[in-house]
Amino acid sequence: MKPLAGARSLEATLQGRLAERESQGRLRRLDIPRSDLVDFSSNDYLSLSRDLVVRDALLTRLNHQKSPLSSSNERIIGSGGSRLLDGNSALAEHLEQKIAAFHDSQAALLFNSAYDANVGLISCVPGADDVILYDNLIHASIHDGMRLSRATRRFPFTHDSIVSRYGDFSVKLEKHGANCTEVDGPQSLERTLKKLTASDRRLRLGESNVFICTEALYSMDGDIANLEYVSNLVELLLPYGNGYIIVDEAHSIGVLGDGRGLVCQLGLPDRIWARVIGFGKAMGCAGGGVLCSSTTRLYLVNYARTLIYTTAMSFPSLASIETAYDYMMLEGAKQRRCQLKMLIQHCYAKLRSLEERSRPTAAVLRLPKDLSSSPIIPLFTNRPKSLAQYCQTSGFMVRPIVAPTVPQGQERVRICVHASNTIEQVDGLCQAIETLI
Ligand SMILES: Cc1ncc(COP(=O)(O)O)c(C=O)c1O
Repeated sequence: MKPLAGARSLEATLQGRLAERESQGRLRRLDIPRSDLVDFSSNDYLSLSRDLVVRDALLTRLNHQKSPLSSSNERIIGSGGSRLLDGNSALAEHLEQKIAAFHDSQAALLFNSAYDANVGLISCVPGADDVILYDNLIHASIHDGMRLSRATRRFPFTHDSIVSRYGDFSVKLEKHGANCTEVDGPQSLERTLKKLTASDRRLRLGESNVFICTEALYSMDGDIANLEYVSNLVELLLPYGNGYIIVDEAHSIGVLGDGRGLVCQLGLPDRIWARVIGFGKAMGCAGGGVLCSSTTRLYLVNYARTLIYTTAMSFPSLASIETAYDYMMLEGAKQRRCQLKMLIQHCYAKLRSLEERSRPTAAVLRLPKDLSSSPIIPLFTNRPKSLAQYCQTSGFMVRPIVAPTVPQGQERVRICVHASNTIEQVDGLCQAIETLI
């Protein structure tokens, strides 16, 4: 139907909004990634999505047509419906048990993506009396889950207060409690928790719950949450055990802790209430899941709308995830992690010496202070677009990351190192960066 004369059509409204974005240099477009550039951009940290051994294992399995667990009428292409209707399968349940055992969890529940896993979990578990605390740099999917949650009390805490690279994390509580002065913006996790417990008797007495949301390996900063500190703090300040930590391990599984993730690496599975995992990054496929208790799993099956009201993963998706997990347990995966670690260290050392030689101002180029074991290296710069463009012209795919994806003033070029990159490629990328700055 045409709008009446004088009315603004929806198309015109949308065009106006897009034009505004474009004028701010923030218009997003879908581009096909260029295959002629060296990949220093994707989240395929172990380069598994292109690995021939993994590909052949998957193709053999798909050509075989059936999973070892399949019955004669198992669906091969699509799943046929929601997990709660016709979309469940013996393979899905078997895979969940395998994934739970691998990550040292009582249970696992698959979702179509880690986005869906976060939204499903966060939207349905916290109740109206509960509180959600979240890292101020937390992923969009957790924000979207919170928007749908019945918990209306949701407070950010500062990212810097929980990541390793910022100093001493022994729990020595300062005395500011309820009397600490109000300042605008988020405060540390410790302050935020202390203010809450001081002002809310029910929380203090364990009659309502606090959910604390963090990521393990942060995808934009490449830094790693100090989960031991977070667990100690939460257990100390919420001694009735009503603090529940949720860790998003989308970027850390496959890479950290022999592939099992940061929570396993630190020996914390018993102290972290739930973990969200993603298969679209280092695992080289797509999909997500929640690692949790059997009770929480059943609760999610009953209440998580992103599980209930969507078609379940197809057999090829399940088969690719299982193939990736089988690979994780092989020597080949260990070698890939070693190779990746060596390349990360090499890349960081090269960038550091480049910084010392060229002495750019902090606005032009700034590296993170410490080397973490993360394949993500942010190059902070006030000209992310021209630097990324120059690297691309030189044959290396890196992307500029600008506001609102990261806070204003923290624009950067994000370098992602992969197991299949070579020393020569890393050197070439660093050379291109040095030429421009
Ligand atoms: C921290 C974090 N959590 C969750 C997601 C969502 O993962 P998926 O791509 O599987 O939906 C992402 C990916 O972009 C992420 O970076």
